Amino acid sequence: MPSGLTEAKAALLAASRVAVLAGAGLSAASGIPTFRGQGGLWRPSETRTLFEGLRPESLATPEAYRRDPELVWTWYRQRFELAAQAEPNPAHYALAELQARVAECSLVTQNVDGLQQRAGARVLELHGNLTHSRCECCEHLGPLALGFAIPPYCSRCGHRARPNVVWFGELLPQAVWEEALAAFAQAEVALVVGTSGVVEPAASLARLAKDGGAFLIEVNPEATPLSHLADVTLRASAVEGLPPLLGKGHAAPNG
Ligand code: APR
Repeated sequence: MPSGLTEAKAALLAASRVAVLAGAGLSAASGIPTFRGQGGLWRPSETRTLFEGLRPESLATPEAYRRDPELVWTWYRQRFELAAQAEPNPAHYALAELQARVAECSLVTQNVDGLQQRAGARVLELHGNLTHSRCECCEHLGPLALGFAIPPYCSRCGHRARPNVVWFGELLPQAVWEEALAAFAQAEVALVVGTSGVVEPAASLARLAKDGGAFLIEVNPEATPLSHLADVTLRASAVEGLPPLLGKGHAAPNG
């Protein structure tokens, strides 16, 4: 077993307070495209169709939505349908099992696909989720179903509803963010998996944990701006790296 993996496993086995920050890479094995890196949504691609060459600023901002709500909803409905028809992968299940066995384990995700919840876990969604719409007037959350009409309307007050996600330039849900801050500030071990670490304030959670003395583990096939902070970096995909890291299969070095 690589030395880093042994050390990381030992830190996790000894920890009673663990905080996890997940990014789009966690769902890559479920067929959900990432945003950056190889094949990412924000990367120009000759294979992309309707949204070819569109940038996040033209799809994932309040201004884009005001300018062309139908285009934005069409993009989100496409992503909703992909996520609804996807399945959680072994990495999602490995994190759910970690949360079930560690006394305090916060799963904080930047993902909006709902897959970690479907794997059975309590999840802090920093960026909202694709599974619901949010009324532009009363903020009621309405569950979306495959084939929903664009735009959806609020079942409570009848106003138009928007995607229930946090757009660039918008604030994160306050209570969720404060709970995530507390989890990383108090973590003994912080695990960062499948995120490019370039979007704030989510990326700052890793630094917060490190400043608080946490043992920091990164799982990512590529280097990120967070890699230099990590005590152990596993250059692997989530489905390759998480099960052996989190599984009970290998004994700890003194086990
Ligand atoms: N397993 C683990 N990591 C992977 C895998 C994989 N199979 N495939 C790719 N990665 C890594 C990439 O190397 C990259 O570092 O996942 C990361 C994905 O980065 P992004 O696409 O930037 O996703 P994320 O970090 O979650 O983006 C943050 O940006 O666009 C906004 O709101 C959106 O929540 C998103 C935020």
